Amino acid sequence: MGADSGLSGVPHLLSLREMPEEEIRCLLSLASSFLEVLDREVKKVPALRGKVVACAFFEPSTRTMKSFDLAARYLNADVTSLTGEASSVVKGESLEDTARALRRMGADCLVVRHPCSGAAHYLARRMDIPVINAGDGRHEHPTQGLLDLLTLGERWGEFRGRRVAVVGDVLHSRVARSDLWGLTKLGAEVRLFGPPTLLPEHPELLGVPGRVRVARSLAEALEGADAVIALRLQRERQKKGLLPSLEEYAAFWGLREELLDRFCPGAFLLHPGPVNRGLELDGGVMEAPRSLIEEQVRRGVAVRMAVLYRALAGGRGAGGV
Ligand code: CP
Repeated sequence: MGADSGLSGVPHLLSLREMPEEEIRCLLSLASSFLEVLDREVKKVPALRGKVVACAFFEPSTRTMKSFDLAARYLNADVTSLTGEASSVVKGESLEDTARALRRMGADCLVVRHPCSGAAHYLARRMDIPVINAGDGRHEHPTQGLLDLLTLGERWGEFRGRRVAVVGDVLHSRVARSDLWGLTKLGAEVRLFGPPTLLPEHPELLGVPGRVRVARSLAEALEGADAVIALRLQRERQKKGLLPSLEEYAAFWGLREELLDRFCPGAFLLHPGPVNRGLELDGGVMEAPRSLIEEQVRRGVAVRMAVLYRALAGGRGAGGV
């Protein structure tokens, strides 16, 4: 799968930074075609019959784990899921040995979420089956990036000339990194805004050169935006001293409908979920007409169908779907 397949000749999916624009567009188009399957009364196509997808999640997840699980089932693959706390990792088994055990039991593809940045790359260098990164530490969450692109692309058609504000805890956000690479590769411009302590060093390098800017105020980030992506405040990854208090975070960096109405009335609102209601998003804004948050969740299934199909169908076209 693009540059990622170069690691071992296996079609891994590890990051959008490494994925060529053409490959991204191809996956989005495939995902679009799978959306129709989700509307069917019987949500089943035979595309991956006989294949086995293993999901190994070493961090909590609702959307990503369950949408990979459903995507595999809708494509008629068998799926087996493992969570870190219920695995032999707690008895001291290594990540690599865990992955090899799943492989020996028949897994044809490994979907992995892990708290360490680089965990998916680590496995990809050691496995002879496709490894799909379902979120690694602060590094990337490429299938979330793809589903965000699918959600916006269906509204816009084309990304060139569009501006997206990405607001919040950029430092800890693997979603932000995948979004930035994906959006800027397709031609959009991004304005970043967050507490200075929650911005990485050189954030303008997290995308195509010249297409990422750091805004000096929330107003500057939002002004004229066509879409706003609010990031989850990752309370589980905070170190002491990065945040004054949750109340201040909500007051200075939280998004409210009146702010969006004032600075970018036509903008869509996205959030990868799960949402800290009342913190990065004011309660009501999630249900406002501009919110695409529920659409994102649905598109996540179609994107993961496309990703599994590309990993496991051996380059065949999407015929028979
Ligand atoms: N967006 C996302 O990764 O959500 P989950 O943690 O629920 O999978």
